[in-house]
Amino acid sequence: MLYSPIKFRNLELKNRWVMSPMCMYSCENGMANDFHFVHYASRAQGGIGLIIMEATGINPQGRITPNCMGIWNDEQAGALSKIVKFIHENSETKVGIQLAHAGRKGSTTPNGTQISEAENGWKTVAPSAIPFRENEKIPHELSTREIKNLALDFKNAAVRAVEAGFDLVEIHAAHGYLVHQFLSPLSNLRTDDYGGSFENRIRFLLEIADEINTILDENHPLFVRISATDYAENGWDLEQSVRLSKILKEKNVDLIDVSSGGNIAGAKITLFDGYQVPFSEEIKKKTGIKTGAVGLIKTAEQAEKILENGQADLIFIAREILRNPYIATKTAMEKSETCFFPKQYERAKI
Ligand SMILES: Cc1cc2nc3c(=O)[nH]c(=O)nc-3n(C[C@H](O)[C@H](O)[C@H](O)COP(=O)(O)O)c2cc1C
Repeated sequence: MLYSPIKFRNLELKNRWVMSPMCMYSCENGMANDFHFVHYASRAQGGIGLIIMEATGINPQGRITPNCMGIWNDEQAGALSKIVKFIHENSETKVGIQLAHAGRKGSTTPNGTQISEAENGWKTVAPSAIPFRENEKIPHELSTREIKNLALDFKNAAVRAVEAGFDLVEIHAAHGYLVHQFLSPLSNLRTDDYGGSFENRIRFLLEIADEINTILDENHPLFVRISATDYAENGWDLEQSVRLSKILKEKNVDLIDVSSGGNIAGAKITLFDGYQVPFSEEIKKKTGIKTGAVGLIKTAEQAEKILENGQADLIFIAREILRNPYIATKTAMEKSETCFFPKQYERAKI
């Protein structure tokens, strides 16, 4: 299963391994550089089916840290296009980009400490004027007009991504960032069309998905990463995630990338290998949409079992592929499966 191809719209992935989006906090002015070239190109040389590049700000305030990646101007898209072009010309890997807005969790260091405007930070925004942690600065509550403009920023970022050669787009609606802040009744206390009922809280995400889908064609699928639960009473939960996924499927979203947590400081999360896989399984079984499983998946055996059990369609790996960029092709050789291997390295084939 791990090495069987899969199609999303007309886009075929050669195998089920996905490099999960991971912020590298290594940009100046949102620009990808030589580090990113080596970082992503080497994972493509390692045979991974799909790379989803790190959370990329749709505007400057959408970044988490001042060193996060951005795609709000043509120069940034140009720098990214060089990486994508090389990967397309030198591997079989497809490349996606995670479009993100950090909302109230922006303007921080990589470890989450808030940065003042005097220190290169910015005034954060959110659905409601509630900080992530009690003693933090209060975010600006977005107006309806500002919300509509943000959905357009997502669309414009997607236009640039497609022009830069990316094969797919993922909306970051997880981990307590802006879209997740709208979804959860604990961070969204609005009383207008964007808050209150389930239908109102999901509205911002649906509008972003609609805007992006207006510019994607049959060759460019759309994924959405969600946090299946806030792990908090009266918060966002699995039941709402299932309802949302059903609606996203009707909206032509191709896959739900199922993560969890991140919106409530101090939430208790019990970690174990594959701890988020049951969420992926529930969403897949109850809605029929394709899902990706992520979180403490470290071996091919574990990954194979998840696919065989019908718990997910794709396996996202994050920390393991930082340790082991060649996991896809190395495992394939050990299992006599077919996987891309650079022709320059032919003499090293097992
Ligand atoms: C260094 C690092 C940066 C991350 N940045 C992102 C990100 O940009 N977007 C995102 O959705 N998740 C991000 N994550 C979460 C991973 O994509 C993944 O969901 C998480 O690490 C669990 O998978 P793992 O157990 O395979 O590492 C990051 C994780 C790490 C370790």
